Amino acid sequence: MTTQEQDNIARVGPGTPMGQLMREYWLPAATSSELAADGDPMRLMLLGERLVAFRDTLGRVGVMDHRCPHRCASLFLGRNEQGGIRCIYHGWKFDTSGQCVDMPSVPAHLDFKHKVRARAYRTAERNGIIWVYMGERTVAPPLPEIEATLAPNSDIWMLQRECNWLQALEGDIDTAHVGFLHAGSIGPEDLDDNHPMRPTVLNRAPEYCVADADWGTTYGAYRRNDDGRMSWRVANFLFPFWSQTPNVRFASRAIARAWVPMDDEHVMLFNISGGIDEGNPAYTTTTKDGRPLFDAPIKYLPRTTDWFGRWRSAENASNDWGMDREAQRNNVYYSGIPNLSMQDQSVTESMGKITDHELEHLCPSDLMIARTRRRLLATARALRDNGVAPPGVDDPSVFFRARSGCYLHAAATDFLDAYREQLAQAARWPAAQTG
Ligand code: FES
Ligand SMILES: [Fe+2]
Repeated sequence: MTTQEQDNIARVGPGTPMGQLMREYWLPAATSSELAADGDPMRLMLLGERLVAFRDTLGRVGVMDHRCPHRCASLFLGRNEQGGIRCIYHGWKFDTSGQCVDMPSVPAHLDFKHKVRARAYRTAERNGIIWVYMGERTVAPPLPEIEATLAPNSDIWMLQRECNWLQALEGDIDTAHVGFLHAGSIGPEDLDDNHPMRPTVLNRAPEYCVADADWGTTYGAYRRNDDGRMSWRVANFLFPFWSQTPNVRFASRAIARAWVPMDDEHVMLFNISGGIDEGNPAYTTTTKDGRPLFDAPIKYLPRTTDWFGRWRSAENASNDWGMDREAQRNNVYYSGIPNLSMQDQSVTESMGKITDHELEHLCPSDLMIARTRRRLLATARALRDNGVAPPGVDDPSVFFRARSGCYLHAAATDFLDAYREQLAQAARWPAAQTG
């Protein structure tokens, strides 16, 4: 990758190719519970823009440039009252659409409030998530039909990571690391025969099928199981920053993870999953003899009102993400880091704020990463140079055809045929809701 390409793929500010690409899509911005009607306004950093978010008296959500259009005092300081946010400097008030609705510092006959608008973005709310559209279309596109986001009672948790969005996302489409970083100290004899992680530790060097898909890119990591069938771990990249990870049971669970760039050096993870089984096996299951595979719950720092004050973990670079050298030496945890999420956090944050791709030596197990980078760059270029709308913007149903997880399938069947057969039998998550 040239330096120019590196910049083009990593940076997301206004006017950058990747920033333009992301602004074509609805972005998850917060959970519904983060904003209460007439409650405190919230600083919100999205794609390098400093925004303020608030919920008005009627429950509508406003997201706008935090600078007041009068003389740029921060509306974060504002009074959220009676259907709008009022700047504390001279009292101008704005509704959730950004329209100025009161200009009390100006004599009535000189009032020009109808001509003043804050730079507000369109918002939507669905199943516990607040979405923002930062693009330029007059009519915003439909919300994406990503399976895990379509049901009202999906499980949602968030985590901020201090690095570029792309290297964080790439951790999710790099299945080869699971047998080391997460499961390097676990052997097949530790797990029940039908444990979904068992094939991973039976053969830590799988082969891959990688393909472009309507929604982005897809891969299946395959290795022969000891019962003669083929073990598949299937995962997806969905435009512009979503992943579906393979460490769930394909037939019974939907997962989607959004890596939403706050700026070029901070990213917010939205982990959304639901289904008819008991959850992510990595989190919820134990070894045969009842030992938990990981230390699972994330310990969060107290929330602050800072631009980066939400969903930070207490384990971070300042304390080596909880590194326990004794546990590393004794192979209690291969990584020495007990918490599953911190294992991922440590490796991607330790790469530096933005990975220098020139120093990398990609290998065959990085095929999915390479193809996804190429697809992102090509799509961003097609938009910038020829105005080509990126995948799923106009037809959001392409996302519903993407599902991830692990399964065993007859060894002779090829990757995409096996995928389609498994998908036809899977319990789809919103359908599971309505019966
Ligand atoms: S700066 Fe906001 S009302 Fe004057
Ligand atoms: Fe991981």
